[in-house]
Amino acid sequence: MAAPFILINLKTYRESTGQHAHRIASIAQAVSADSGVLIGIAPSYLDIHPISRHYEIPVFAQHVDGIEPGAHTGTITAEALKQAGAKGSLVNHSERRLTLVDIDAAVSALRSAHMVSVVCTNNEAASAAAAALSPDYVAVEPPELIGSGVSVAKANPDIIKKTVDAVRLVNPKVMVLTGAGIQTGECVRTAIDLGTDGVLLASGVVKAKDPEAVLRDLVSKI
Ligand code: G3P
Repeated sequence: MAAPFILINLKTYRESTGQHAHRIASIAQAVSADSGVLIGIAPSYLDIHPISRHYEIPVFAQHVDGIEPGAHTGTITAEALKQAGAKGSLVNHSERRLTLVDIDAAVSALRSAHMVSVVCTNNEAASAAAAALSPDYVAVEPPELIGSGVSVAKANPDIIKKTVDAVRLVNPKVMVLTGAGIQTGECVRTAIDLGTDGVLLASGVVKAKDPEAVLRDLVSKI
């Protein structure tokens, strides 16, 4: 995956499921093509297949279970996500926390399926622990700022810097994203200047009156 990377988590907002997911994917694809910045999208499970068929941008799941295909009910395997067209998955999002053992299993399952893993964390210590599992990305997001409209880049740049340092120390191959309250190109610039490889965001785009204007601003200072 190229850097910088902007990953939009569509969560389960009304404004980002079904046809709304298509609208955001179409805007993301246009902005990515115009700017040359890699933009990915993490829609709900039901939208993974249609979105990945219609658009070229990388599609991610919001969660994956670290299990082999077989006799499990209500779970989702990396293999099934891959067949649906996903390129990777978030793991351990703040709204879908897992145990360390489960995170390890999910990262391994994604690796076996040749898929990209993005492990979310809440601070530098958890980021260091996640980096030890050798995912492709660690994405640090202070939970109290998620969905707040207050950017981690402004409110807590220290957590970004400390996470970048901690991850580099444990495994320099692991890339770092940051998220929570990211809304502007200035936030993205700050995140990159602090050593990250990009950002993970949701409401800044999904809840915006004009998602295209927000996305164009997000890539404007890269
Ligand atoms: O997965 C991204 C997310 O947790 C950040 O949410 O709405 O603060 O951009 P938001």
